[in-house]
Amino acid sequence: QKLELELEAIEKGGYPHFMLKEIFEQPRSIMDSMRGRLVAENTQLTMSSIREYATRFKNAERILIVACGTSWHAGLVAEYMIEEFARIPVEVEYASEFRYRNPVIREGDIVIAISQSGETADTLAALELAKAKGAMIFGVCNVVGSSIARATDAGAYTHAGPEIGVASTKAFTAQVTVLSLMAMMIAEMRGTMELTALRTLMLEMEKIPAKVEQALLLDKEIQAISEIFKDASNFIYLGRGFNFPVALEGALKLKEISYIHAEGYPAAEMKHGPIALIDENMPVVVIATKDSSYEKIVSNIQEVRARKGRVIAIVTEGDTVIPQMAEFVIEVPNTHEALMPLISVIPLQLLSYHIAVMRGCNVDQPRNLAKSVTVE
Ligand code: AGP
Repeated sequence: QKLELELEAIEKGGYPHFMLKEIFEQPRSIMDSMRGRLVAENTQLTMSSIREYATRFKNAERILIVACGTSWHAGLVAEYMIEEFARIPVEVEYASEFRYRNPVIREGDIVIAISQSGETADTLAALELAKAKGAMIFGVCNVVGSSIARATDAGAYTHAGPEIGVASTKAFTAQVTVLSLMAMMIAEMRGTMELTALRTLMLEMEKIPAKVEQALLLDKEIQAISEIFKDASNFIYLGRGFNFPVALEGALKLKEISYIHAEGYPAAEMKHGPIALIDENMPVVVIATKDSSYEKIVSNIQEVRARKGRVIAIVTEGDTVIPQMAEFVIEVPNTHEALMPLISVIPLQLLSYHIAVMRGCNVDQPRNLAKSVTVE
């Protein structure tokens, strides 16, 4: 027993929980996901599995992404990136729905299955269904040799290292990293992006680990904000564009480890219902970094303020507009808007972590949840 506890303490590397260790590992794990795959200086991308299937990717008429939970959120980010850069229509599906709804799958389709564990039953069944209908299956898994990794035609491992905390953190950023590189590589092969734009994006990608490191310095600040909101019974998370999936991910993180009810929404959808929930007791986390939807999200913040909602805004450093309207502002480093999820998710992971710890929850093993859902 004592030995086990000591071993666990060693495994946690000095952190009180695996989740916190894994959050802080992200500069390193993102680097590991890129290693050997990206040399921005020479505008060079190397993913042998994509090269091997170059013709399939070049001619793909459609990409279907199947996943569950956090991996599904990474899939949503990928949808925005692949459509923007590579101009291939993408659909993102919950694996559990896809497998039972007789989906239209054509031979020219590429199905990307995303899974940290590589053992999620629904994702595995979804890809097997697609495979039987003649689609090519590409896996984005973290666990080497896992069932999903073995069932795919080709794939790219995320190389995030073992993730022990049930709440996925470093696996998410590793998935987004690999999917970004895939989007860039497919764009390059299809000639859908100007070379200079591609190079700029790649140079930005290389800087992400350092920027994530910088975002992690916000820990103390976020801890203080967590203290203020730890007793809330509801939270709303809003984001637009590339930050919309981040809003979903922030809400999922909070609910799974702190048991606070949280909803993630595309900010503009708020008007179609959730706005009715906003009053002076409602914390609203808005991811409002400087991107093409900035002006729009500023108006969404004003709408929340007008109903006395308590706004916690994630903004780009140096923003002078939002600090005048939000109650709390968390500044993150700037990057290309497509890569922002890799940075903007960090404060949300920390917020859910600290709130859960303050509420006395079992952060690494929340109630009712398993690390990998191997049954339906
Ligand atoms: C994330 O924090 C969750 N615990 C969960 O949603 C998870 O992402 C989902 O079960 C999918 O798992 P997978 O990536 O191993 O397939």
